[in-house]
Amino acid sequence: ATMASEAELIHMFKGIPFTTRSSPELLKSLDTFDAREDDVLLVSYPKSGTHWLAGVITKLYNTQVTLTSPIEFGDISKLEELNKLSSKRIIPTHLDYNMLPPNFKNKKCKMIYISRNPKDTAVSMYHYYRENPNLPTIDTWTAFFDLFLKGDVVCGSWFDHFLSWEEHKNDKNILFLFYEDMKKDLPKIVNEISLFLGLNTSDNDIQDICKKSSFSEMKSDTEKENSDPSHTVCALTSNRKLIFRKGTVGDWKNHFTPKQNRRFEEIFNEKMKLSKM
Ligand code: A3P
Repeated sequence: ATMASEAELIHMFKGIPFTTRSSPELLKSLDTFDAREDDVLLVSYPKSGTHWLAGVITKLYNTQVTLTSPIEFGDISKLEELNKLSSKRIIPTHLDYNMLPPNFKNKKCKMIYISRNPKDTAVSMYHYYRENPNLPTIDTWTAFFDLFLKGDVVCGSWFDHFLSWEEHKNDKNILFLFYEDMKKDLPKIVNEISLFLGLNTSDNDIQDICKKSSFSEMKSDTEKENSDPSHTVCALTSNRKLIFRKGTVGDWKNHFTPKQNRRFEEIFNEKMKLSKM
């Protein structure tokens, strides 16, 4: 999506492609991160509904909370910056389970993982690559489709990411959510999140939060905001306005050819043999 070369935009860390806006020094130092017991992690593969979920969660708290940028986004000063925050921290991340700072695991911090049909995720990511100057140029959907299946995209393979987290889906401190369930019955999921976080949210408040978290509300809020547009909860970040594209289930049907669909299903079935879902 840019004139810069791929090498200027992407680097590999532990076999996974990251944008150069996640510095190698920061990635190397993540293992030393000091988690706090009341940190809440918001975990996703890119384009799975991270901003939607972040919008819901921040509205659920009546107390002071800080939604940070993703833990892996920035340079070495990031850890210090997060350390300085005195309020409760909601910390987004696209890291897979293995790369997560061990302190979050040892302290049993609450983590919410949101996942989405990988076909829709691929389509959403394709458009984001096209519009986002921090990501390499992609000429066609066909080219992106191949890269996505190979895991040759930022944050690596969707399958590896999902499987690394799915293994922990029954851990008491982890809540597993699906984008499609939020589309189907948002109040139900918001209630689930509220219970998981130990909050006491009235039905009225839940209705209100759902109204304010609709695609159209969130999109128009973002367009009205004067705040720094680069302030996103996505580590592939460029401009918050690019996040609210379509917000539907099944847009893959407008992109996948029948042949691509067969190939996707083949690889999905093969990779997901290890999955219990
Ligand atoms: P599309 O590109 O399919 O429209 P992330 O926040 O993880 O980057 O995910 C972005 C995707 O979530 C985009 O998908 C975006 O439109 C969708 N999204 C954002 N807010 C939403 C909302 N309130 N309701 C439904 N979908 C939303």
